Amino acid sequence: MNIISKDIQKAIQLLTKEELVAIPTETVYGLAGNIFSEKAIKSIFSTKKRPFFNPLIVHIPSVESLKDIITHVPKKAKLLADAFWPGSMTLVLKKNAKIPDLITAGKGTVAVRVPNHPLTLELLKQLPFPLAAPSANPFGSISPTKPEHVERYFKNDIQMVLDGGSCKNGIESTIIGFENDKPIIYRLGALALEDIEAVVGKISIKNKKEESPDAPGMLARHYAPSTRTFLVDNVADEVKKHLGKKIGVLVFKNSLNDTSLTEIRLSEKGSMQEAASKLYDSLHELDHQKLDVIIAERFPEFGLGKSINDRLQRATFSL
Ligand code: TXA
Ligand code: MG
Repeated sequence: MNIISKDIQKAIQLLTKEELVAIPTETVYGLAGNIFSEKAIKSIFSTKKRPFFNPLIVHIPSVESLKDIITHVPKKAKLLADAFWPGSMTLVLKKNAKIPDLITAGKGTVAVRVPNHPLTLELLKQLPFPLAAPSANPFGSISPTKPEHVERYFKNDIQMVLDGGSCKNGIESTIIGFENDKPIIYRLGALALEDIEAVVGKISIKNKKEESPDAPGMLARHYAPSTRTFLVDNVADEVKKHLGKKIGVLVFKNSLNDTSLTEIRLSEKGSMQEAASKLYDSLHELDHQKLDVIIAERFPEFGLGKSINDRLQRATFSL
């Protein structure tokens, strides 16, 4: 049976019956359930095979709905929310008593965002409860940016993927937490660091290799293809080390012009935004070609390049 559908009323019915629905956002597809349903939330964790210590993001329809789930909004959080919502930013804030511990892994804080996708905003406006939604992939796998990616992962587990087309940003939201009301980046993501700093000033990025990370998207090997993947500055040099193998290469803007390789070029015109939007789809694509290795080109270390490098680094075995 085809589980991909544009029928928003059907999504509302399923979610109201405590079932899961995969929903489109501008970053990646999410595996969504009613935050107040223990059944739905447990089913999110079991479907993804996600450990319970890894908390979920709550999706709300507007900045105004923040007051329903949190107790305190630092001044800079308000500035950020007004600047970037609806959009690809998640804020980690102090939760109120209504938010179940299952969502937050027992933490006193909850991660929340207003996604920027017309279908999902409509869904959130019509539902009387917010949606918890982690990325719709098995724990540790590449996040989905097309309905077909979700279908491939979960066609036997869920009844519906709400079809919102390809995700236009293509990598997960940027997560920002607050310590003594000071913002700190917990996960680099679809917003460029420079754009965030333009709103709140210089911001630090929290250490990525904690034992019990604040944002387990920070776990070292995450977002990984099953094909062995390398991240390098010079792809042509790396290719020479793997002669005789079936090689896939993922380059930013310049082609290697080598027909013996399976090559995907992320943006001919050199746009990091375009490259980010195609990143996961390209990794899915290469991962399904039965290659021996994937060699990815490191991006310039600024703007979205920083976030893309972060994800590519996590896709490699070479940590
Ligand atoms: O773009 C996105 O953020 C997508 C779409 C579907 O919204 N969602 C997403 O969810 O990437 P997920 O579950 O794959 O990643 C959520 C991240 C995890 O790394 C989790 O640890 C972190 O958010 N997180 C959630 N609650 C937190 C909290 N209270 N404190 C710190 N980190 C938190
Ligand atoms: Mg994820």
